[in-house]
Order: sequence, then structure tokens, then C-alpha cells
Amino acid sequence: VGHTDNHGATKSLGHVTVVIVGGTGDLARKYLWQGFFQLYADQVGKGHTFSFYGGALSTTEKGTPLLFDILKELACPAELSVERCALVKDQFLHLSKYHQLKTTEDYENLSQQIKQQLGQEGIIEAGRLFYLSVPAFAYADIAEKINNTCRPPSEAWLRVVLEKPFGHNLYSAQALDKKLSGQLKEEEMYRIDHYLGKQVVSKILPFRKENKKLLDPIWNKHHIERIEIVLKETLDAKGRIQFYDQYGVIRDVLQNHLTEVMTLMLMNLPANLSNSEEILQNKLNFLASLQHVDNSNAVVGQYQAYNGEVQEELNKTKDYFSLTPTFAGVVIHVDNAQYEGIPIFMTSGKALDERVSYARVLFKSNVFCVQDPNNVQCKSKQIIFYLGHGTLQYPAILLSKNLFKPELVSSGDWKEVTEYKDVNVLGLQLSDYYIQSPVTPREAYCELISHVFFGRKDSFISAEGLLASWEFWTPLLEGLSRVFPRVYPGGVDNGNLLNFQLKGHQVAFSHEALVNVINPGAEDNFQVMQGKYRSSEMVSAWAQELVERLASDLLLAAEEAIREEGQFHLALSGGSSPVALLRALALNLYTFPWRNTHIWQVDERCVPHTESGSNFRSIHDLLLQHIRIPYFNIHPMPVHLTQRLCVEEDGGPTLYEKEIKKHVNGSSFHYILLGVGQDGHTASLFQDTKLENDEENLVILTESPNKPHQRMSLTFTAINRARRVGVLIMGKSKHELVSQLSRIKGESSKYPITKVQPKSGTLIWYIDYDALLG
Ligand code: BG6
Repeated sequence: VGHTDNHGATKSLGHVTVVIVGGTGDLARKYLWQGFFQLYADQVGKGHTFSFYGGALSTTEKGTPLLFDILKELACPAELSVERCALVKDQFLHLSKYHQLKTTEDYENLSQQIKQQLGQEGIIEAGRLFYLSVPAFAYADIAEKINNTCRPPSEAWLRVVLEKPFGHNLYSAQALDKKLSGQLKEEEMYRIDHYLGKQVVSKILPFRKENKKLLDPIWNKHHIERIEIVLKETLDAKGRIQFYDQYGVIRDVLQNHLTEVMTLMLMNLPANLSNSEEILQNKLNFLASLQHVDNSNAVVGQYQAYNGEVQEELNKTKDYFSLTPTFAGVVIHVDNAQYEGIPIFMTSGKALDERVSYARVLFKSNVFCVQDPNNVQCKSKQIIFYLGHGTLQYPAILLSKNLFKPELVSSGDWKEVTEYKDVNVLGLQLSDYYIQSPVTPREAYCELISHVFFGRKDSFISAEGLLASWEFWTPLLEGLSRVFPRVYPGGVDNGNLLNFQLKGHQVAFSHEALVNVINPGAEDNFQVMQGKYRSSEMVSAWAQELVERLASDLLLAAEEAIREEGQFHLALSGGSSPVALLRALALNLYTFPWRNTHIWQVDERCVPHTESGSNFRSIHDLLLQHIRIPYFNIHPMPVHLTQRLCVEEDGGPTLYEKEIKKHVNGSSFHYILLGVGQDGHTASLFQDTKLENDEENLVILTESPNKPHQRMSLTFTAINRARRVGVLIMGKSKHELVSQLSRIKGESSKYPITKVQPKSGTLIWYIDYDALLG
């Protein structure tokens, strides 16, 4: 390996060693070597010297010809003349070498080789760049080997580039992160999302900044009608089912590529576009402001030939069915004053009718065209970040001419396009747009490889950003793991089968499926079942249906109470059970009479209301902040008085009792919603809670066996005075409890929930199938 490449450089900036682990694999062949060749061509003569290693498991004898087959085929960068390219390529081939990388000794040996060579030639080392182009399961092991044997001397940098998949869900991403961060520092890791290297994607923030003055007034819920983030492919997953079947379309492209695009479009603009920390913080803030998505916000499909491919590539029998989606459509909402209510449609699929990817902001039209509908004022107003393919065929940023004329995003390497091919792009003729586009098209990998070289971390995924994205997607992925995707034939034959539409905050396919070769089976039985449990009424269904049923029962109860008394008094419990219900109430029941509803608490933990462990905090986050309810109808439990928590002499329970008596007729709540702990406790009334002196009290302080120990709770006296009591029990972890309770007749001091026996009101159990059937 030589280093004869910096003749004429004024000052030596040191030597850079590049190692592609997996250097003879598919990705390396297709993109990586080309990217490093381009880097070399850009940098030669500018002060750095280089050497390149392709590493893989094969021996040197086997690997060397494989590598040179790849290198021979490298294409010349457009800006080089033929002669110059021949020269540079020749140098590049001389600087490149195969090195077996299997055992720790192999890595040690590589490091020795680098050291020796630099020592002999008296060159200082600038850095080492390892590109891991290997399956993710190998990352931890390779990172450990690099850490133990291949660290450069302390003045030089170490950069390790990783490719997705970074985990499979939040938990596995956390585990992988933990393993890697034991070996490498965060600043040493470059997690690639190749979409961030696409020229248009990397210009989203600069475009927003350049045009801030004109965009600011319209970049909000009052002007934006909807946003679409789309990646359509004609290709299928054949040949990579081993990988694909474990991931599916949401993990493959929505969780990463499309989420990144959405984030760049909607995050707060950083004051300084080169401040990576500010960018990261704004990204995290944006991801944290997304509304939770579940099955009701998504539709999924699978192309018809997929299952056969799975059976073949994974050696499965003919009765094996994969539930992995190859198509998904999701609607996302942002929970902040700027964007609330704007539907963001995110969609991607394999085996569709065309290959195209874009992100489009469609604005509301405030014009009523009485005549002349072809007038420019009557056409749709949109901004499109067009990543490529489709009818346009090149990457560009397009703006309807009836919006405004944008500033050029980056003079020098971007140009305005004024030649209009006769094509239609998303509803408008090309001549209806202002168009700007990169002067020279560059492959995403090329861009990113150069960014690694320059240490531009903001083009890569941070650990925090990664986990935040998984945190958003994981609940949906878990929910979808039981859903049968709609089967579609593939290509143009899909017709309207995959079109989906908005219903409130939810989405559903627009048309009935005509074909569905998968037999739905028992799991698909979403019927609600009605029966008796502990001699009271019971409603049972799969979780989602159950929660919807309970929400609509609450609505009926509210309407009845308001008809009769003008007010509805509802007391809510804490814990995990009501979470899904509160979401359903917040997002789907627009007709709920919140104006006349009073919200009370069944129990509270003795922590400040602003803390995440507080029940009030979760009622606030999940429900109150999304609905229009008068402030004076909200009655949090007073656990924090005179700057201390739940002290007897501060009289919190008495205060709450007075408040109840003041507002609630006969202290008889219209509805009390309870959950049950695995130990049988309900509200914050535990097995050991002493109640003898509390016959008359409505509210007391109690002790929980679990942290935080101190609680405030309604008493059985208060609970049993209610007109209606609903007990919601969900999840497999409650199955044992549900069976035990069904065997106990009457009261048992071991299970406080058995003391819930409304005097003149009704008790209804809402138990999901997981809890009921195990
Ligand atoms: C990859 C996915 O990350 O992105 C592929 O694994 C997908 O399934 C590809 O085809 C799409 O990238 P592009 O650049 O072709 O839009």
C-alpha cells in the first residue's frame, strides 16, 4: 500500500486509513467503493494521504480477486477528464488492499500493519474510518475487536460507520446501543440513514431557512391542509426475505427514512444550521410532540406473491403464513399549537405501480373560483420535496407558482430549472411550478461518505434520535403484530385496493377487499361479548374494541346525566389500564360533552402533579390537554399542600371531600372508573389498608406496598355510592387474577376489589380477551 498521492500538497494533514468490513459484499460493490473512490478523487492533492482496506471473512487468496473485480468496475466521477480519471483510478487501486478480518488476531494484524507502514514512512496519522457493511448481529463483536485492537494513537480520530437495522424495536435498539456504547464513544459512531444523504433531503432545512420570511406565515395548521411522505417501489422483497420478513415495511423505511424526512420538514428551525446539537435537540422535541399511533391509525398490506417467497426462502411449509406487511399507510398528528390537526400521511410499499419518493405539503385553498378554473389562482398550492424517479425523474424542490418565488437553496451547486417537459407532477403541469434542482446529481452514499470524512455528525443518526423514533413506532408495531395485512396483487393491478382515507384521526382502506387469501381464523373475531362476571354484568372483547365500547358507554352515561342534572361527574383511576381509554376519549369522541363534565380523581400518588408518576399528570397528558374542558371542571387531588406531600395535618383528604360535597349531588359520582392491580387492590385501597374508622370518610391517605408508598384515595364508601362503577381489566398479566376473582363468592379481605359493591348503582366489568382467556 503506497501513499504517493499528495504531490504538490502544501502541508501534510496526515494519513487516513479506510477499512470496509464486509468490503466484498453487495452494498460495498454497489455503492461504498464508488463513494470512497469519489472521496479520494475529491481529496487527492489536498493534504491527506490514504490507504483503503476491504475486509471480509475469506482468506487473502480468495478475497483479493473478489475485491479487484469490484474496483476494476468503478466509474469515473463526472468532473474528471478521461486521462485524469485513469491516473487517479490507478493510484486508488494501488492504495487498496484486501485484508482478512475474522479473528481478533486479524484485526491486531491490520492495526500493526497500519502502524508499521506509517512509522517507516514517517507520516502522522489523521484517523481511521471503519465502515461496517455487515449484518447488524455482527456489530457488537466487531466493535469490540476494533476497540481492543484497532484504536489509533490518541491524536488521531476513530470513526465507525454503521448501517441500519439498528434494532427491531425500542428494547432491542436500547440493548444494541448499550453494547456498542461499551466499546465506542457516541462521537465515534456514524449511524447511516442513506436518505439523509439524498440531495433534496439535505436541503430541506436550508430551503426552509432561505425562505423563512415567506414560509413562516403559512407553515402552520391554518394554512396546511395535509402532508404526504411517500416512498413507492415497484420492486419486491424477493431474494432478501431472510432480512425483510423479520422487519417489514414499517421498520425497513418508515421508522428511519420517512421519519427523518418528516422531522426535517416539521421540526423547529435551528437558529444555526451547522450546530449539530441544536439540530438534534429540535429533532428530539419534534419526535416528542407526535401523537401516539396505534392500529386505528394504520393500514397494512402484503403483495400476493410474498407469502410464497417466504415459504421458499425461509424453508417453510405450505400452511405457513407471514403477517409481515410490505405496504403500510399511517396517519400521524403533531401535538403542538403550530401543527395540531394536520394529517401527515406516511406511506410506503413494495410491488406498487411506480417507483417514486417525495414529501409534499398541500396548502388549503382560500379561493372560490366562480369562473375560469384554469386560472393560476385556482390551482392547487403545494411545496414538494421530490427525491427522485416518478414522472419527473430527477431530484428537485417544486413550488406552485401561485405561492411565491423561492430563493435558490444553495447557489453554486443548485440551479433553477426553467425548461418545462410536458409532464404532470402531483396534479400540476411542470410549468405551474418554480423548480430548483442540484447541478450534478450525486449518489446518497457518496455524499455521506464525504460527510463522515469531514466529521459532519448532523448527517447521521444519533443514539437519542434513534431511540426516540423507536419509542414512537414500537407500540404500533406491537399492535400490528396480530393484524392480517390486506393482500394485493402487485403493480398496476392493485387498482384502488390500497387507497386509504381519514376518519377523524384514524385511517381505513377506502374500498372493501375483493381478495383475501389469508384465512382470518379465530384471532380475527373482533366481536364484543356480553356475559356475567361475579354476578355482575361483563363486557369482553379484544383490547381495542373493548376500549371503544367503554368509551361509548361513558358517552351514554354522560349524556344521560347531563339530560337529568346538567352535569356529569366522572372519577378516573391512575395506572396503566385506563391509558388506551383516555386516548380513545381524547381523540375519537368529538361529541363528548366535556363542557358539562367534571373530572375527579379516584386516587393519586403523593408526588407533585408535574412528575411523570403522578396520576393527574397522566390524565393531563393523555386527555385534558387534548379536549376543550373548562378549567373549573377539573378537580385534581390535593396531595401537595404547604409545599409538602400528603401530610396528615395538612388535611388534604378533608379538603377533597369538601370539594366533592360542594359539587357532586349526594356525593354520588355518576361514573367511577376503576382498575385492579395484580394483587387485587383497587383505587389506592390495598389489602392492609385500615378502613374501620373510615366508614364516614370519602377520601383517605393510604400506604401502598409499592413505590411511591404514600397515596390518597377515594374510600369504598365513596365508590359504593356511585351510580355506575366500571372496572377495566386488560392484558395477559391479569389473567391469573381474573380467574381467581371469578371463583371467590362475595367479599374477601385478600382482594379489596371484592368490596366494590355499589349500593344502588350498577357495576360493570370490562375485561379484554387477553385477561379473560390468558
Ligand atoms: C432501503 C430499504 O433502506 O431503502 C429498501 O432497505 C428500500 O427496502 C430502499 O428499497 C429505498 O431506497 P431508495 O434510495 O431507492 O429510495
